[in-house]
Amino acid sequence: MASQDELKRMAAEKAVEFVNENEYIGIGTGSTVNLFIEALAKSGKKIKGAVSTSKGTSEMLARYEIPEVQMNEVSHLSLYVDGADEVNHSLQMIKGGGGAHLNEKIVASIADKFVCIADESKYVSRLGKFPLPVEVIPMARSMVSRKLVALGGQPELRMGFITFNGHQIVDVHDLNITLPVTLEDEINKIPGVVENGLFAHNAADVLVLGTQEGAKVITPN
Ligand code: A5P
Repeated sequence: MASQDELKRMAAEKAVEFVNENEYIGIGTGSTVNLFIEALAKSGKKIKGAVSTSKGTSEMLARYEIPEVQMNEVSHLSLYVDGADEVNHSLQMIKGGGGAHLNEKIVASIADKFVCIADESKYVSRLGKFPLPVEVIPMARSMVSRKLVALGGQPELRMGFITFNGHQIVDVHDLNITLPVTLEDEINKIPGVVENGLFAHNAADVLVLGTQEGAKVITPN
């Protein structure tokens, strides 16, 4: 039986097939993405450059000598590759377990195609078992948390964590996520919320899933 790390690697290696040479791509954050960067380098495919979403990803790009390009230097990307904390059958996702969902949403928004890479434990019929990360302006944290309680959630401050952009994260447990698009908007409308980790408007176009039966390429249904 393949381990979770082996399943992640399987998905990461398969996703390299979606990369076209001589183009700009966007790269998310996390352990699965790190395996993708390694697989891309080993494949020998040469891209023009990658927009990174975090310090960790930038370090991986440098280690594998993949050129990094800044978000402000490109107007569009052919591809965005990223992991997820949960992904449903419409390929809507919960992201932000690593606290990078703000940068991830920004970079994904200029990509033609979003390829999500994950091991099969992340593929769920309903989002919400994984607590939803909500990035907040520190002074608004308590007020935002009260509004999140009113939405049915149980907010918990991510202790000792500051995002790349200097904000805090509240992880919201027990949300009833029946309408992901509506909830994504509802939460982002609260003053003081910078961005939440629901990727419902910007769902993935393709999911590459590492499973015990091999890598599967899944499209939304
Ligand atoms: C980063 O903030 C997240 O959105 C990641 O994409 C997510 O946590 C997936 O990480 P792993 O690939 O490590 O599971």
